[in-house]
Parts: sequence; structure tokens; C-alpha cells
Amino acid sequence: MPLTLDATTLNALAVLGVILALPHLYRLLDFLWLYFLRPDSVKRYLHGRAPYAIVTGATDGIGKATAAELLARGFNVVLHGRNEAKMQQVVRELRAQGKGKGEAGERDIRYFIADAAKAGHDFAKLVEPFGDLHVTVVVHNVGGSDLSSPRIDGHSEDYILGVVNKNSFFSLFLTQSLARGLDNDEQFLGVDDRPTGVRFGYLSVGAVHSDNHDAPMPPSLTTPTSVRFARALVDAVGCGRRRVAPYWVHAVLSWLVELGPESVADAASAQEMRGLIARAEKGK
Ligand SMILES: NC(=O)c1ccc[n+]([C@@H]2O[C@H](COP(=O)([O-])OP(=O)(O)OC[C@H]3O[C@@H](n4cnc5c(N)ncnc54)[C@H](OP(=O)(O)O)[C@@H]3O)[C@@H](O)[C@H]2O)c1
Repeated sequence: MPLTLDATTLNALAVLGVILALPHLYRLLDFLWLYFLRPDSVKRYLHGRAPYAIVTGATDGIGKATAAELLARGFNVVLHGRNEAKMQQVVRELRAQGKGKGEAGERDIRYFIADAAKAGHDFAKLVEPFGDLHVTVVVHNVGGSDLSSPRIDGHSEDYILGVVNKNSFFSLFLTQSLARGLDNDEQFLGVDDRPTGVRFGYLSVGAVHSDNHDAPMPPSLTTPTSVRFARALVDAVGCGRRRVAPYWVHAVLSWLVELGPESVADAASAQEMRGLIARAEKGK
């Protein structure tokens, strides 16, 4: 027997459908606004006579490309790395690229050297030479770990501490030295109307190609080059979100992953990591 619904039930179902669809419609519009429509937000940090951006892990991959992009958009830069000879080469490259872009050639490029995996840096001393600069953007890019044994008991305690230093404490203590005087609300909430107006944002990064990797992933739509990703990263600066995937394809992928069961996402990530580790170990 065909199911018949009276007009009141039909209307109620229609209203329910609209209510359920609204968050998805909002998300779609927000996505279009965030990635394709909104005006350039990094410009708001181009204030003062000579604005500077600090980029950590800036001698290769995303960090180096981000430094180049920030220079091209009008910032002076302070770069961080661990290898002085490689850093000097990068500074020469960036200066040479800058000439091609006209004005960017005149921007100031400075650097400091510190192994982020090591503990015990005097952070106040590290940033002292830059104390008088008008720093408006800091990109905490240094991080990651080697592509090696997937088992936690395959690593020494020193190695694990190094990974934690590099991915967490280095950025934390550097921030502390750069931003003395911020209160906790500001650090956690990034409230704009506080005296310093500092905002903190977490950038969610998917696969990105870098020649520096032991097993570089070939560039594709889902794995942008570092240069392409850096453009998206700089576009995301000042977008006002606490957490954002700078590259739109990564945002779509993470939305798709959220739709499915966690176990499927975990299995796919584990499979991908196993493949990368096998390739890295083969290349050694
Ligand atoms: N690429 C991806 O697929 C991907 C995905 C998710 C997250 N990320 C994150 O994005 C960030 C950049 O990744 P990437 O792919 O651009 O890496 P990358 O190409 O390997 O470059 C890493 C940069 O950090 C520097 N660095 C590494 N260890 C350091 C240490 N202990 N002390 C000081 N500097 C150090 C490297 O210096 P050298 O030049 O001396 O090696 C290089 O400048 C990392 O935090 C990573 O975890 C990347």
C-alpha cells in the first residue's frame, strides 16, 4: 500500500530537511568565501615603516617557499635554520629572486641558526639581534620527524625528546621570547581588541612536495609543490580562523575524511606512511 502523508507531516519534514541542510549550506558558502572570494588578508600585517616576518625551518621546502612568498608580498624576513652554509645559499637565492621581482630585491633578509631538536637554547639571546625590528608575522614552520622505524620502541629517548623539542618546545619558547607581556586570554583566544592585537592560528597541513624529503611525494593536485602551498599559506595569514587548512584541496580531503569512519581514515594513513617509510629506507 503506497505511503501517504498528510500536508502537515510533509511540511514538518520539509522544515526538518531545511534545518538539516543549513549547516552544510553554511559550510559550502564559508568554503567559497575563505578560499576564493575574500580580500587579501596578509596585507593587514604590512604596517609600519619596515614590517618583518619570521619563518622557522626556512632553508628548504615549505619554509623556504613561504619566506620567498612573504618577500614578494612586501615583508622583510628573518629566517631560521640549522645549517649556516645552506642558509647563506638560501639568502643568496632569495636575494637573486628578489631582483627579478623589482622591489623585493631591496628587502632586508636576516637569519639565525639553532637546532630546533636540541634543548637548552637561550631564546632571549637568539632573538636579541631582532629586538628592534617591527615583527608582524611569525610562521612556526619547523617540525616533523624522520621517516624511519614506525615502532616507538625503535627509537632512543634522545630521539623522541628531539622530535618533541622540534615540534613543540622550540616554537613555544621562541613565542615566549618574542611575545613577552601577552596574557593567557590573548594567547589562547587571539582576541583582536587587546592592546597588542596578536592573533594565533593553527595551520593544518596535508601532503606537500619538498625535494628535501627522504621520499618526496610527486606533486599533484592533492600534493602541491612547496611554492604553491606557500602561496596558500601566506593567503591564510590574517584570515581570522583559529584553525585552517591553507590549501583548499586539503580542506576538501579533510572534510571527506570526517564523513567516513575513523577506522578507514586511520587505515589509509597507516598504509600511506608505511609506503613512505619503505621508500625512504630503500633510498638510504
Ligand atoms: N611536506 C608535507 O607533506 C608536510 C605534511 C604535514 C606537515 N608538514 C610540516 O610542515 C613543516 C615543513 O615541512 P617541509 O615538508 O617543508 O619540510 P622540509 O622540506 O624537510 O624542510 C624543513 C625545514 O626545517 C629545517 N629543519 C629541520 N629540522 C630542523 C632542526 N632540528 N633545527 C632547525 N631546522 C630544522 C630544515 O633544515 P635543513 O634544510 O637543514 O634540512 C628545513 O629548512 C614541518 O613542520 C612538517 O612537519 C609537512
